[in-house]
Parts: sequence; C-alpha cells; structure tokens
Amino acid sequence: MAARFLMLCASSLLFFLAAVSSSSPTNEYHSDEKKVFDVRNYRARGDGRWDNAYAFTQAWNEACQWSGGKSTVYIPLGTFYLSQVTFSGPCKSSITFIIKGTLSAPRDPNVIKQEEWIIFKYVDYLTVTGGGLLDGQGSYSWPLNDCNKNPNCRALAMNMGFAFVRSSRINGLRSINSKMGHFNLYSVEDFNITGVTVTAPGDSPNTDGIKIGRSKDMHIFNVTIGTGDDCIAILDGNTNLDISNVRCGPGHGISVGSLGRYKDEKNVEGLTVRDSVFNGTTDGLRIKTWAKSISQISVSNFLYDNIQMINVGNPIVIDQQYCPHGQCDSSGEYNSHVQIKDVKYSRIWGNSTSKEALKMQCSKTFPCQDVELSNINLSYSGLDGLATALCENVGGSVRGKIVPDDCRI
Ligand SMILES: *[C@@H]1O[C@H](CO)[C@@H](O)[C@H](O)[C@H]1NC(C)=O
Ligand SMILES: *[C@@H]1O[C@H](CO)[C@@H](O)[C@H](O)[C@H]1NC(C)=O
Ligand SMILES: *[C@@H]1O[C@H](CO)[C@@H](O)[C@H](O)[C@H]1NC(C)=O
Ligand SMILES: *[C@@H]1O[C@H](CO)[C@@H](O)[C@H](O)[C@H]1NC(C)=O
Ligand SMILES: *[C@@H]1O[C@H](CO)[C@@H](O)[C@H](O)[C@H]1NC(C)=O
Repeated sequence: MAARFLMLCASSLLFFLAAVSSSSPTNEYHSDEKKVFDVRNYRARGDGRWDNAYAFTQAWNEACQWSGGKSTVYIPLGTFYLSQVTFSGPCKSSITFIIKGTLSAPRDPNVIKQEEWIIFKYVDYLTVTGGGLLDGQGSYSWPLNDCNKNPNCRALAMNMGFAFVRSSRINGLRSINSKMGHFNLYSVEDFNITGVTVTAPGDSPNTDGIKIGRSKDMHIFNVTIGTGDDCIAILDGNTNLDISNVRCGPGHGISVGSLGRYKDEKNVEGLTVRDSVFNGTTDGLRIKTWAKSISQISVSNFLYDNIQMINVGNPIVIDQQYCPHGQCDSSGEYNSHVQIKDVKYSRIWGNSTSKEALKMQCSKTFPCQDVELSNINLSYSGLDGLATALCENVGGSVRGKIVPDDCRI
C-alpha cells in the first residue's frame, strides 16, 4: 500500500510539474490512463509453432515498466506455443494479464528448465484473467513419471507459478494436462483465485490442481478441479486461507500436508473449507503428517463446513502415520511430532466408497486436541454393512447427530 501511495504522489507531482510547465489541460487524468500491450506488436504468433517466449517477455517488460497508469498485457485468440517464461516485477503500477487464447507448452519436459512453465514473481496488484487456456501437454511426460516408486524422482514443470506476489488474483482461467501441478503459489499474500477450471485425467501422476506454500490471506472461490492428485494441496507455512464453492473430482481431495518431514517447516493456521462438493475423489478432507517427523509444528484453527461427498474413498481423514515407500518399520516407534488442534467438522454428508468413512489416526505423542464433530452423515455405498469410524488419540467433542457414530473422542 505504501509503495502505491508513494507512486501516486510521485505521479501527481509529475503531473503538477507538467501542468505548470506546459499548462496543458489534456493530461488531467494522466495517472489513471490505461495502456494495452498486445503481444502481436512484439512479434508473437498464434500458429502453435513459433516460440513466443521472447515476444511475451518484451510485452511484459514494457507493460511492467510503463509508469503512465494501469497497464494490460493482451494475448488474443490463437494457439501460442511457449517454451518457458518468467514475468518479473516489481512493476510501476497495477498490471492485468489477459489470456484469451491457448498457451501451449513444449511436449518435451526437458525444454523447461525452471520450476514452472510460466512464472510470475515479485509483482503486486496483478490480475491474470481472460478465460484462456494453459495446456501443459502433460500426456507426453506422464509415462516417464516414476514418483510413486522413486522418492528422488525428478520434478517436472508445473503450469503456472506465483512467488512473492501480493494483492493479486487469478480470475477466469483454464488449465489442462500439466506435467506436474497446475498452479503453484509460494509466498503470496492477499491473493484470490476465482472462476478457475483445472482438468487432467484422474490417473495422471502428480497433477495437483492448486498447490500453496508459505502464503497468507488467500481466498479460493468457485473453482472446478478434476485431476490426478490433490485438488488443492496446502503445504507448510500457510495462514488464513478461505476456500469455498469448490467442485473437486476426480482427484485426491483437499489435502493439508504432508507435514513434518523437513526441519524449518512452519505452522499451518486458519483454514476454512466450506460449501463444496467432492465427487468421485479418493479422499475428501485430509490432513496428513509424516510418522517420521523432525519438525515440531502445529496445525490449528480449521473449519470444514457444509460439504457434500459423492462416492468419495475416504471422506474425512487425519493420517499422522503417513510413511510411504516402506520408510518406517512396523515397530510403531515413529510418532508424528505435528500437533493438530482446534479442527471443526460440521455439516458433512453423503457417501463413501470405503467402509471407514471417518478416520482419524492422531499421533500417540501429540494427540489431536479440540476436534469438534457436528452434524455428520456419511453412509457407505457398498453392500457389506454400514459405515464405520476409526478414531485414535483424538480429544474434543461431538455435537448434533453423527453417522457413523462409533468414534470415541
Ligand atoms: C480477495 O477477496 C476478498 C473477499 O472477497 C476481498 O476482500 C479482497 O479484497 C480480495 N483481494 C484481492 C487482491 O482481490
Ligand atoms: C464461476 O466460474 C465460472 C467460470 O468457471 C463462471 O462462468 C461463473 O460465472 C462463476 N460463478 C460465480 C458465482 O462467480
Ligand atoms: C459426479 O460425477 C459423475 C461422474 O463423473 C457425474 O456423472 C455426476 O453428474 C456428478 N455429480 C454431481 C452432483 O456433480
Ligand atoms: C443421513 O442420510 C441418509 C441418506 O443418505 C438419510 O436417509 C438419513 O435420514 C440421514 N440421517 C440424518 C440423521 O440426517
Ligand atoms: C452416492 O450418492 C449419490 C448422490 O446422492 C448418489 O447419486 C449415488 O447413487 C450414491 N452412490 C451409491 C453407490 O449409493
């Protein structure tokens, strides 16, 4: 805010000086002027073949450095091949990035040598919009992915990344078939995602929809995500995230974690997930922490409210015994050091494809505290019996009607 205020002051001062020297009345609204930087004027070509990285970067740089008012980078209809690109700030003013057409990624994953195919960093007051499509061309690299067997597998590029971006938003954008995740947010603040659609096959590997780390004050509203991994993945160091009106499926649900594996991780505080539908996902609302954990952090102040589950594998899960690839022995000596507390589940209903519709396995050394369940109604969609609940090391309370009701809190 301070920077913007200073900038406004600086530009009004310039205007004042200009007005004094030329006494021209024409520039009266100078600081509110808008200018469009159409990528076609920078030799961009929407023919699906020409690499537009240089053209887009030039258009961005000029828009970003333009100090006359609000600037817009405009990408028209057409298919714009793009090898990889980084749009860096800081910019002189607010900036809008309009994508009308399709941006198409290289099929060969080795062409992209950065964490994301398209990166925005160190920018404030950015809006990315236009209803266009990001096509990650992931089907060419999915067969090479061995991350389910190899913990040191190579990370491939995610479609679009935002790092150190504040007071910004993505509004109306589609992303398909990313090589790995679709949208990656790292260290963003006051950031909104609305009207976004993410699509990839349910069996595509590691294609998270929206991945968030070390960020705060975010709103995600009215998004449709069908993919092969988490619809939304919330990693360590996030505070104050409000997620609503999400349609998730196929996919692995809205997942917090996995947490606790690395040192220097930070707490996750303040998450709301409400008014959403999970349809055909393997998991619904999940919190996952490593059994073998080094960092002693906490997960707190969560509210899950008004959520429908349709044929969901595990609608409600807390898993503090996460230890894939056989990295823990069976002695049970590993207990997560992540403290989960103050988590409310209210008005969660629908059906589960596994019998254990409600499963909370908390840490023996750091039991979950203040978990509140109210108005839960989950049925098992199989024929061999009724839904059950499993709750271990959970402290808290139950209010209203709960089905299944065999959770001991
Ligand atoms: C994000 O959305 C919230 C709630 O609608 C709003 O108060 C805030 O100003 C928005 N921020 C941005 C950067 O759009
Ligand atoms: C939700 O997003 C879609 C685009 O995916 C848009 O067409 C629709 O108008 C949005 N609805 C609301 C309530 O914002
Ligand atoms: C759930 O997904 C199935 C299969 O994709 C679809 O046919 C159905 O309409 C969806 N239900 C809702 C309520 O969205
Ligand atoms: C739970 O949902 C089932 C339908 O899935 C319904 O028949 C039942 O009445 C509901 N129970 C409560 C307590 O709301
Ligand atoms: C699960 O719930 C949905 C929505 O109510 C329903 O259409 C579907 O038939 C149910 N699935 C089973 C296997 O009962």
